Amino acid sequence: MASKFGFALSDPEAFQSTARIFVACASRMKPGLADRPSFNLLKAAADGSRLLDAKGQHATVCAFLDCLKHVSEQGVSTPETYTFVAKCSEYDRYLDHKAVEYRANLRADWSSQSLKSDNNTVLARVVDEIAMHMRAFSEPALSYQSLVDYTHARIGALVPAEIADMRQEANIALILPFLERSLTVPGDVAEFGCFRGILSVKLAWLIKALGFHKHYYAFDTFHGFEIDDPAGGALGIGAFRDDAFNAFNFLTQWSRILPLTPIKGDATKTCAQLTGPLSFVWLDLDMGVLMDPVLQRIWPLCSADTIIGVDDVGRPETPTVAPWLEEMVTAGALETVFNSDEIAPNTFIRFLRKKGPFPEGTFGERRIVPQR
Ligand SMILES: C[S@@+](CC[C@H](N)C(=O)[O-])C[C@H]1O[C@@H](n2cnc3c(N)ncnc32)[C@H](O)[C@@H]1O
Repeated sequence: MASKFGFALSDPEAFQSTARIFVACASRMKPGLADRPSFNLLKAAADGSRLLDAKGQHATVCAFLDCLKHVSEQGVSTPETYTFVAKCSEYDRYLDHKAVEYRANLRADWSSQSLKSDNNTVLARVVDEIAMHMRAFSEPALSYQSLVDYTHARIGALVPAEIADMRQEANIALILPFLERSLTVPGDVAEFGCFRGILSVKLAWLIKALGFHKHYYAFDTFHGFEIDDPAGGALGIGAFRDDAFNAFNFLTQWSRILPLTPIKGDATKTCAQLTGPLSFVWLDLDMGVLMDPVLQRIWPLCSADTIIGVDDVGRPETPTVAPWLEEMVTAGALETVFNSDEIAPNTFIRFLRKKGPFPEGTFGERRIVPQR
């Protein structure tokens, strides 16, 4: 679909359905594209009104490409549009890549000056392909795959391969989208139980790459568990000790270029070093007796908007995490905003928000009066 204007539609009807699907998905985004002139043009195309002459077709295709770029730049959105955002970002980068390969003029000039490149036909074919993929896009749902796609795209776009390719224990596909949602909340980020620190480096990089000024605190003993699981769970003294990988040094080195601080020692005590507000907390300490004093201590630093993530809820190897969290929810201290097991069984992650005061007493010894 190349013409003297740059883009012509071989099948305007098919493009109309691309426009319709794009408009439907983009309309679910927050913030949306509502005030963008190109989005209004695309909406008109979705109704079939601007696709008749060559000039109109070129303008409409350029409007589509402008919206594609804008969606991919917006990044964080509502969970049901994660896959849509991820796909737009993937297509947009593909087109950018091809535009460089065929030495095209600036994309921003395509609508006013038409497309000029070494091979307009190839570029038009790439756009055709993107429009076709977009048509195959059905109703997006808040599914696990949607979160996986989104995280994959975000890491691919924002984190260097050297970091992206390192493996962490925690399920980053479920964590990253929630971390991103918390970025507009004032405060820093704290991870308790960072093990080798891979998740910490990825997330600290992402925060910085997105232009947010937050500090990332990564807590661990850096020599594994210092106690046995009181309920006889799989973890005991020395579990998660990795002497071959010096995680504290690894994180200290990264802290020279990232706003990241590793904090060594028993987190139930070292967490007292935090004094400022927190926007995101990740608790991966595997035992209720560890999570409870940490959360109690940092409770005043959390607001009702702070996102609090807890890993290993209901995992057979960590039998005290679920009862502890259940107690917190029953007491009315926390409310669940996301339960990963509802979209992907056995992923064991919960995201919660502060709802009321921290319950009196310590875990296991409290008398909980259920709050409504
Ligand atoms: C499940 S691992 C965390 C996995 C990590 N989030 C990841 O994605 O790779 C649990 C971590 O908690 C740490 N830990 C255990 N007891 C601790 C304590 N009292 N204070 C700080 N960290 C502790 C262990 O050393 C271990 O690294």
